[in-house]
Amino acid sequence: MANITLKNIKKTYEGGVTVIEDLNLEIKDKEFVVLVGPSGCGKSTTLRMIAGLESISDGEMYIGERLVNKVPPKDRDIAMVFQTYALYPHMTVYKNMAFGLLQRKVDKKIIDEKVMHAAKILDLEKYLKRKPKALSGGQRQRVALGRAMVRNPEIFLLDEPLSNLDAKLRTEMRAQISKLHQELGTTFVYVTHDQTEAMTMADRICVMKDGVIQQYDTPEVLYDKPANLFVASFIGSPEMNLFTAKVQIENGKHYILLDDMKMELPEGLVEDERLAPYNGKEVVLGIRPEDMYLENVMKESYPDAVMHVKAELVENTGSEANIYFNHETRKANGGMSIAKINSRDHIHLGDNVDLVIDKNRIHLFDGETTKSILN
Ligand SMILES: Nc1ncnc2c1ncn2[C@@H]1O[C@H](COP(=O)(O)OP(=O)(O)OP(=O)(O)O)[C@@H](O)[C@H]1O
Ligand SMILES: [Mg+2]
Repeated sequence: MANITLKNIKKTYEGGVTVIEDLNLEIKDKEFVVLVGPSGCGKSTTLRMIAGLESISDGEMYIGERLVNKVPPKDRDIAMVFQTYALYPHMTVYKNMAFGLLQRKVDKKIIDEKVMHAAKILDLEKYLKRKPKALSGGQRQRVALGRAMVRNPEIFLLDEPLSNLDAKLRTEMRAQISKLHQELGTTFVYVTHDQTEAMTMADRICVMKDGVIQQYDTPEVLYDKPANLFVASFIGSPEMNLFTAKVQIENGKHYILLDDMKMELPEGLVEDERLAPYNGKEVVLGIRPEDMYLENVMKESYPDAVMHVKAELVENTGSEANIYFNHETRKANGGMSIAKINSRDHIHLGDNVDLVIDKNRIHLFDGETTKSILN
């Protein structure tokens, strides 16, 4: 069983800098887990501790039932793929993939079977005789994956393996790695700072900031029920719009006040006890760009949830259009707010627009603790 358990893990680098204080993470057997977060948050450090390339200052790391704190990398049944694929330039693709096994004196016939199998899955059969310099970036990255595959590891660790590739190749390789995970049925831990990669590939995403896990859940839950403002802003593109609004509770009904809007919250969206402490106070109202509509139908259902804005910029992507607008209470993430609408609605620069908020999809956060009030 290749489940991975991190218990109260602490990491202090030489020189005394503690980058991870107390990390607890459980990765299930065969799961695809993505560690995501801004630069310097400790993703690579965590991955390298799982690999055994970095010592653990305190806490316990288990692979299956086995405590591995002191187990060297080669005895962990793990293969790691890095951002820089580090292929041997003078060796053919075949030799690059076979090299680790050759060194371990594995039977030539078995090596051949494994390399050919990996080459087939990764669509590299045509390139086996080539040297790395005669390959594209994506093909090189596949060779690096193949080299990891032939070892039949129980766990794959990947640290930003696609960041050297252009956008189109990244999308292709994303799909290929997901497919590889399905075919191999092994545990994958994948590091990236790209939320799209995390959202498209992961069974579960672990969002980190400053060495601390902010939320660990499925992509759907992270998107629909972010635990705090950091996760809310980090996951989703364009970013969630955040405004400063006010809570009002009257006769047991919940209202959010913003400009001249007095929006009654749908029953059951938030429990009385959770909202009560905020009565009369400011909170952060979060609305994803796609949860604002122009349609008159919506206006009829939610006449009290309309924002009047002016289109400062209209970005047409073909299927949809992003309307940029200014709002004086816009919070934290700076710049303009965005509503994503149907491009066929033909909104133009300078138009005054009524945006209807899907009340069931709003988010509310405590401005001080940054925690979600809804979830
Ligand atoms: N060998 C080291 N000695 C001291 N500090 C280090 C060492 N390696 C990393 N750090 C520090 O630990 C913190 C976490 O680094 P880490 O490489 O894990 O971040 P990351 O999340 O992978 O970032 P990135 O997205 O930029 O790769 C950073 O502040 C970094 O400066
Ligand atoms: Mg890193």
